[in-house]
Amino acid sequence: MKVNAGDLSVLGSMKSHASAPGKIILCGEHAVVYGRPAIALPLTGIRAHAHITGSAPGSGIRFNAPDLGRRWLLSTTPGDPLSELTLTTLQQLGITGMPDVEITITSDIPIASGMGSGAAIATAIVRALADAFGRNLSAEEVSSLVYESERRYHGTPSGIDNTVIAYERAIWFQRRSEPPHLIEPLPMTAAFTLLIGDTGVRSATRLPVGEVRRRWQEDPARYETLFDMVADVVHQVRQALQEGDLMALGPLLNRNQDLLEQIGVSSPHLERLIAAARAAGASGAKLSGGGWGGVMIALVELDVAMQVRKALLESGATRVLETTIGE
Ligand code: PMV
Repeated sequence: MKVNAGDLSVLGSMKSHASAPGKIILCGEHAVVYGRPAIALPLTGIRAHAHITGSAPGSGIRFNAPDLGRRWLLSTTPGDPLSELTLTTLQQLGITGMPDVEITITSDIPIASGMGSGAAIATAIVRALADAFGRNLSAEEVSSLVYESERRYHGTPSGIDNTVIAYERAIWFQRRSEPPHLIEPLPMTAAFTLLIGDTGVRSATRLPVGEVRRRWQEDPARYETLFDMVADVVHQVRQALQEGDLMALGPLLNRNQDLLEQIGVSSPHLERLIAAARAAGASGAKLSGGGWGGVMIALVELDVAMQVRKALLESGATRVLETTIGE
């Protein structure tokens, strides 16, 4: 059903809000861009929010992002990624004409750190727009709107970020050459705790992703072998989680880190935090996400969590978050 935004008398009093979680990749990043499986986990306690309120007739769509220090009008900045996402979403919702609304975006998720900040902000906006117009979008629809937006600005994303964030559950993800990609809930029989250490070094995902592509083009045989080795680790992680074999998990995360170093996406900052976490008693640690900066994760038993957190902070982590998965 098509609806003209101007016909909606509710707009003046409109108020809607939606949020979306951050995420981390447990294992399989980068290889996932080349069709291998990866495991991603939502961080439900750390979120991006979009609030929509109706505004004066004729004012159009105004964005307000205080955390990013930005305000803009869709009509004067139509090429902004979030302006474009908003237009595509309104189109998908069957809204013609321009509603008069203010979209306020806030987020607790550090940007360019491998925690899915961009995809979470986009997801919150899509959901808040659907809610504002009394529509329902499935997780799959939300995910594909966000994917299109990420694809335009980030090169060749695998689709794992938008998927884990839109579904908000632990997923096994494998990209296929054509959608639908393989998305499965991850069976887990035991809970485990991760510390997430932020290097404080911001790194846009498309840079390491672009460099890996360049190296893969230069030496496809070597990179295909490395990606197969990552896939093997990811399959073993899945089995360990399914069997509740947490003893196996730490060494597998370490093995994934070794392979990420060989792929060329680690960094001295990441390796310093990873070494500190292992030395303080973490049973495994690796970078998470695009690499070259951003965050690392450490698997910890509760009795060493405090000392690992302390070691991370003493080694330069700008913040340390804790998350328990599978409860
Ligand atoms: O957005 P990030 O930094 O968490 O990285 C996503 C994971 C990559 O595998 C590096 C890229 C992708 O699109 O899957």
